[in-house]
Amino acid sequence: MRQEWDATGAGAAVATAPGEIARAAATAPGEIAAVAAPAPGEIGAATATAPGEIGAAACRRAGQGGQWETQRARMVGQLGETRLLHSLLVADEAVIMGRRFGGDLTRLALAGLLHDGAKEMPTPALLALAEAQGLITDPAERARPSILHGPVAAWLAERHWGISDPVILEAIRFHTTGGPGMSREACIIFMADLIEPSRDYPGVELLRRLCRQDLRAAMIEAINQTFDYLARKKQPVHAGMTRCLEWLRQEKGGLPRMESKEMAIIAARAMAAKKGAKITVLKLEDLTLITDFFVVATGSSRTQTQAMAGGAEDELKKHGIRPHRIEGFREGRWILLDFGQVIIHIFQTDERDFYNLERLWADAPALPAEEVLPE
Ligand SMILES: [Fe+2]
Repeated sequence: MRQEWDATGAGAAVATAPGEIARAAATAPGEIAAVAAPAPGEIGAATATAPGEIGAAACRRAGQGGQWETQRARMVGQLGETRLLHSLLVADEAVIMGRRFGGDLTRLALAGLLHDGAKEMPTPALLALAEAQGLITDPAERARPSILHGPVAAWLAERHWGISDPVILEAIRFHTTGGPGMSREACIIFMADLIEPSRDYPGVELLRRLCRQDLRAAMIEAINQTFDYLARKKQPVHAGMTRCLEWLRQEKGGLPRMESKEMAIIAARAMAAKKGAKITVLKLEDLTLITDFFVVATGSSRTQTQAMAGGAEDELKKHGIRPHRIEGFREGRWILLDFGQVIIHIFQTDERDFYNLERLWADAPALPAEEVLPE
């Protein structure tokens, strides 16, 4: 027996035609990747813990074991086997990340368990419910109705599943698009959804690595991957996701991010590895609002300046940091990579002498060479 949905979300319990749910569940464009379908039990065997057990244990410790079981039973009735497994693994991953980054473990477990509770609603029902309940906030939701399964699940959780905790509801609501000012728990659910162990798509390993180090960088990389995907598919971006990215880039508190100086040094070393010459890191943070550091370097040919730019970009990308803009790459005479807090200038010899940035910024102290390039 499956639930059939109407615009009240009440869900009369009627059988669904075979295959209908599977078709409705096919991942819409904009999802970073479809959930891989491991054989049931495969993931549990690999991790030596039954899927969902970490989430369940976190709830039991907080005296919420009954709530976990109730909601788990609800999801068993709501989701196919693969999606249920995914949800249990998101709950587990979220608890693991909560231990690392902070966050309420019970809320994380329950939000992970419930986040996809509307994922298998057929698209017309999803749209109708969202429409009727005023949940549509952006044109991208009509173009890609699948992203509504976040807000719709949050609405169902509040109205029909007995969830009143605003942090859990927000984490469910934002898991498809993110949003500015989202809670730490919501950030963790957003990422746990993308990296739980059954996920398999290009870019997932980078996200997993970032999720072990830097939640903010992981979020930024995940959103950039989504933007790349949507651009390739010529699909519209949800404005909430754009605002979320702006918020992540600006936010000073809450989530840690890499220091500008560390970014500058990573870029300098990456260019040294490409045999860049005369590498200087200028500290501008006390002189201007433009940026915190310039990294200036020289290459002897276009091929080399391009290789240096590529090297710096690749190294910073490993930390989830991407340039806001790149200029002059094709000509390769003065390549500028703007990372916001850090701007990299790569010149060929004549251009370096001609523009002489060091003279222009003569007040800016250079970091000592032994700090930038220790060997
Ligand atoms: Fe989802």
